[in-house]
Amino acid sequence: MAGVSVQAFRRQGRRFGAGLVCSEMVSCAGLHHGNERTLGYLRIAADEHPLAVQIFGSEPALMAEAARMVEDAGADIVDINFGCPVRKVTKTGAGATLLEDGDRACRIVEAVAGAVQAPVSVKMRRGLEDGSRSCLEVGPRLVDAGAASLTLHPRSARQMYTGTADHSLTAEFVDRVDVPVIACGDITSRARAQAVLATTGAEAVMVGRGAQGNPWVLREIVDGAEAEPTREEVAAELILFVRETARELGERRASGFLKKFYGWYLGRGRFPRQFKQELVRLETTDEVVERLLVAAPGAAGLLERLEAEQPSVDDALLELPVSIYGGG
Ligand SMILES: Cc1cc2nc3c(=O)[nH]c(=O)nc-3n(C[C@H](O)[C@H](O)[C@H](O)COP(=O)(O)O)c2cc1C
Repeated sequence: MAGVSVQAFRRQGRRFGAGLVCSEMVSCAGLHHGNERTLGYLRIAADEHPLAVQIFGSEPALMAEAARMVEDAGADIVDINFGCPVRKVTKTGAGATLLEDGDRACRIVEAVAGAVQAPVSVKMRRGLEDGSRSCLEVGPRLVDAGAASLTLHPRSARQMYTGTADHSLTAEFVDRVDVPVIACGDITSRARAQAVLATTGAEAVMVGRGAQGNPWVLREIVDGAEAEPTREEVAAELILFVRETARELGERRASGFLKKFYGWYLGRGRFPRQFKQELVRLETTDEVVERLLVAAPGAAGLLERLEAEQPSVDDALLELPVSIYGGG
């Protein structure tokens, strides 16, 4: 998820039982031009594997080049974005637009699959317009073009995130394609995951928003464990997330980036509403950490254990400008 799936999010997901995690979407044009921030998306830590890195773009040759870079960076799967509904992306012919341009979509998949050894997967929506069934037509063609698995989020691009994911369409989709399908959309509990798996025939489910500020739901989905954490557990996870993200993005970017996470972690009745508002107003991540430790003193011991268990991530895999690693 763009603006969410930073390294700390992915590592946390793996720690809580996700079988596979995925990067934010990475622009093939940004990689082509050596854009420093885009290259920063290719940092992969040892404990993230298996990991998919998702690329987006509309030019087959550029997408193939991006796929090679992603594979060289250590991705286990190269995922292609045919689902992004955001205008900035669709107006360039990328993202969900490709669901209505099957020929180009196939050329992209062919070029990417021909460029890398890693399996290539595609993430898609149902189509552009409400009620669209384009995925049923384009899905099998993408498989012929070389896609090893497909993830369907059965909302239209127009819907953005409104309404509900129509998993009866996922069931039809599973019948049409002979590769594993991952069902995505509104998976927020073990019961929901089980129901979608049972009624669609999908091989796996993908969890998006449900895991924002709530990695505990992953553990619940995977093994049925109690999902509601204590305040101390919430504070410790959030502090680890804040520290990891500040290390990854640098203090200046991280302090703004993290604000949306405070509500996600502290909501759900876990902390009083004004506490979140207080954190959002603080300027530095150190102040946020300090305030969280005051609110939940018992978090300090848990945090120490979490930090001790985290493998270090200084095993940089890319020859990138130092400023990326330094977070500046
Ligand atoms: C903030 C945000 C960013 C997202 N970014 C991406 C992205 O970069 N690539 C992608 O394939 N899907 C992206 N998605 C869509 C999710 O992967 C997922 O398909 C969608 O949110 C439905 O699943 P959910 O109900 O579990 O959240 C994004 C969703 C959100 C809310």
